[in-house]
Amino acid sequence: MQPARLVVMSMLVLLGAGSTASAFEDKDIIDYREHIMVTLDEQTAALGMLMATQIPPDNLAAHAEAIALTAKQALKSFEPKVQGGESKPLVWEQWADFSERMNSFAKKTEALAVTARTKGQDAMMTEVVDALSCKGCHDVYRNKK
Ligand code: HEC
Repeated sequence: MQPARLVVMSMLVLLGAGSTASAFEDKDIIDYREHIMVTLDEQTAALGMLMATQIPPDNLAAHAEAIALTAKQALKSFEPKVQGGESKPLVWEQWADFSERMNSFAKKTEALAVTARTKGQDAMMTEVVDALSCKGCHDVYRNKK
């Protein structure tokens, strides 16, 4: 290819990338997914207090449902390929695996919420560790600051 054509083509690629990415700010995209993750953190901590019987269990199902609902929002927040925050580039390099983990996390927390609502705390014990796969994903995809 002629050098001049190559330059023009790469400029078009750059312009194209710029115009799609500029619809939303990178910083906002990162902030958004971090808000979702912090919500998961807080709701998991609250649920943990109930399960450790430090707090009466009245809100047990509500916390489990909040986690399930937030888990469902999480995948969407990672769809824009915006590097940064505490995400490793691997999130988008291994998108099939990452999204499968996130979908499975959403499914299992949904099932956990059903158990919380219909069977209560004791029945949750067998599911809870498997459902809250936070660390498994973080070990691979998150740079902890
Ligand atoms: C499938 C993967 C995955 C799962 C499941 C997951 N996380 Fe994360 N989490 C991430 C990634 C990736 C980041 C880095 C986000 C960023 O900063 O760009 C992150 C970041 C965080 C952060 C830091 C947010 C900040 O303000 O920087 C917290 C806290 C967190 N996760 C809590 C949780 C908790 C609690 C759970 C489980 C209930 C969970 N996460 C489940 C992938 C996951």
